[in-house]
Amino acid sequence: MDWHKRYEQQAGWTRDLRAYLFAKAEAKSARQILEVGCGTGAILSTVDSSAALHGADIDLRALAQCRVNAARAILMRSDGLALPYASASFDIVFCHYFLLWVGNSLQAVREMKRVTRPGGHILALAEPDYLSRIDSPDELKLLGAWQVESLRRQGADPGFGARLAETFFEAGIKLEEMGIFQPVEKRTNAEEFELEWAVIESDLAGMIEEAEIQKMKLCDQAARQRNERILHVPTHFAWGRV
Ligand SMILES: C[S@@+](CC[C@H](N)C(=O)[O-])C[C@H]1O[C@@H](n2cnc3c(N)ncnc32)[C@H](O)[C@@H]1O
Repeated sequence: MDWHKRYEQQAGWTRDLRAYLFAKAEAKSARQILEVGCGTGAILSTVDSSAALHGADIDLRALAQCRVNAARAILMRSDGLALPYASASFDIVFCHYFLLWVGNSLQAVREMKRVTRPGGHILALAEPDYLSRIDSPDELKLLGAWQVESLRRQGADPGFGARLAETFFEAGIKLEEMGIFQPVEKRTNAEEFELEWAVIESDLAGMIEEAEIQKMKLCDQAARQRNERILHVPTHFAWGRV
C-alpha cells in the first residue's frame, strides 16, 4: 500500500477547506507553523506561507518521506502526547486525519494548545466519524461495519470526529468555527475507486476472507455503475484560538 498516495488523496478532499481555514488563521503572515502527525508531508508540502514550517510525527519511515516531500520543513520524531517544543512557540498548530489515531486525543489537543502562542490558532482539519457512516445499497452496510472494526483493531478511534468540538472545549480552546464536510472525489472515478479499495483490502487483510472482500468490491462496483452507491463519512473540522 502506497500510503503517501492515500494521504495525497485525502489532501485533495480538504484542499478548499484548508485554503479557507489557513486564510482565517492568517497563515501568510505567520512566522512559525507546526503540523502534528505530519506523516509523509502530503499537507505540510502544500502550506502556502513563508513561515518556518515544522512537522512532528512518531513514525520515522513517514518522516523520511516527509523530508523529501516537504523539503523545507524542520522535522522532529516525537509523540504528539508530549511534544518536544517550548510552550507558546507557534502561531498556528494544525493536524489532519491525526487525532483519531493518537490514543488520547484530549492530551494531544492539550499539547497542541500548550505549544501555540497566546492569540495563536489551532486547526483540526479533518477528523472522520465512521460510526455515522452511511452506506447504500444495504448489502454494502457490512463493509462499513468491517472498516470500523478494522480501525479499532489498528488502535484508531473510529467515532472521534463527532467529539472533536467538545475535545477543543475540554482543552480550554476558544472555538471560532467548527463543521462537517463530505470528502469529495477529485480524481476520475475509476482511479478513486481503485485507491479506496487498495486501502480497504490492506485494512481487511487477515480479518475478512479474501473471497468475501472481493465479493464486496464487485458489489460496490456494480452499485456505482448503476449510479446507486451512497458512501457518506461525516468528517469534522475545528478552528480555535488560544
Ligand atoms: C493518517 S496519517 C496522516 C498524516 C498527515 N497528517 C496527512 O494527512 O497526510 C496519521 C499520522 O499520525 C501519526 N501518529 C499517530 N500517532 C502518533 C503520535 N502519538 N504522535 C505523533 N504522530 C502520531 C502517524 O505516524 C501518521 O503519520
